[in-house]
Amino acid sequence: MNKTVSFDYKPALEFVEQREIDRMGEIVSHSKEELLTREGLGKDFLGWIDLPVDYDKEELERIKEAAKTIRDDSEVFVVIGIGGSYLGARAAIEFLTPSFNNQLTKEQRGGAPEVYFAGKDISGSYLNDLIRIIGDRDFSVNVISKSGTTTEPAIAFRIFKKMLEKKYGPEGAAKRIYATTDKARGALRSMADEEGYTTFVIPDDVGGRFSVLTPVGLLPIAVAGGDVDALLEGAAAQRKISLDKDFDENPSLQYAALRNLFLREGKVMEVLVDYEPSLHNLAEWWKQLYGESEGKDGRGLFPASYDLSTDLHSLGQFIQDGTRIMFETVLNVENPPSDVTIDEEPVDIDGINYLSGKTFDFVNKNAMHGTRLAHTDGQVPNLIVNIPQQDAFSLGSLFYFFEFAVGVSGYTLGINPFDQPGVEAYKRNMFGLLGKPGYEDLTEDLKKRLQ
Ligand code: PA5
Repeated sequence: MNKTVSFDYKPALEFVEQREIDRMGEIVSHSKEELLTREGLGKDFLGWIDLPVDYDKEELERIKEAAKTIRDDSEVFVVIGIGGSYLGARAAIEFLTPSFNNQLTKEQRGGAPEVYFAGKDISGSYLNDLIRIIGDRDFSVNVISKSGTTTEPAIAFRIFKKMLEKKYGPEGAAKRIYATTDKARGALRSMADEEGYTTFVIPDDVGGRFSVLTPVGLLPIAVAGGDVDALLEGAAAQRKISLDKDFDENPSLQYAALRNLFLREGKVMEVLVDYEPSLHNLAEWWKQLYGESEGKDGRGLFPASYDLSTDLHSLGQFIQDGTRIMFETVLNVENPPSDVTIDEEPVDIDGINYLSGKTFDFVNKNAMHGTRLAHTDGQVPNLIVNIPQQDAFSLGSLFYFFEFAVGVSGYTLGINPFDQPGVEAYKRNMFGLLGKPGYEDLTEDLKKRLQ
């Protein structure tokens, strides 16, 4: 039977008393009501709350059809987007597919093309390397931008559009370009309408970082072979818990409460910890969701992440013994998709025979438990999010768990979790320095400051 994620704050009870948690439980329950009455800050961007049950069914069918076409006609699929317009898809694909998926044959991938991401940075060398990987193989592009005007994806798209037109002609190229954008506004929408691209809509009331369950995430996930129905079912199951359950049985509320308590106690950094490399980009998605939602008005926890046990050999010393500013939220995959058993050697030269017959997951889990206790001893409180399976249902549940918690947590902090005014500052300066029309008055001053 499919199970939703669970949350365990018991390991943190050395740091906070149950009565403090209960008190904070009342506060976050109030924040939940504020969220659900849809009268609070950012109330125009709450479409994500009902997405798992109230989505455009016809569009989901179109997504599946487009995914089938792309899987049939492409060896490579390039997803162009930045921030909320790529992180969820990347996290999901990495979570749901084998570690070296792009290196497998198309048959081994179950018919999926290789999937790469572009427009998430401004590196010409990354782009050249990607172009080289594509070579003369058949490829398609999904360009994703809600505003339709973001520089990083726009300049990358220009390059791939030209490549497609050269290879397939303007009409053939248009058939291989899938645009996910606003229903009416923005340069990408205008271009898509003019050129006849297949388009998918990002709902007005869903912000970028909450958009993984819209076509933004669903098309790339479906192309990669992810079960989008199960993903939505997992999110719907978690939504029911988030909306219906009281604090004692509500993982998102409990998580929101604990992180606000720690912040009030001076733990200004939350680190999301994984023990499976395939969760690395899930943490990247989470960092954007939490950093962009809460980091404003001089408030918020700084969201960071590390992959363990890998980073215990680089950051372990600091975590155990450095400045005491952090708590950890551990992602525990209860049943990883596969495992390896350690053999017995006739001569135990490396001294590892005491582990023979044990699995890597057994060792990994003990590393996790041991690390949790060590970090707790080092005054780094631990919270645990249990993920039953590394499958689409669990992932949908996990996405929703984190989304609901950040809405509640942001309201508890007293900020608007659904805007991102700070993201504009670098853009203004970049446009001024690049001489973008309309920003010329900034150019001289910025150049002087750089001297
Ligand atoms: O969460 C957000 O709103 C941002 O991270 C955006 O997703 C990101 O800036 C990309 O914007 P757009 O989709 O408009 O290109």
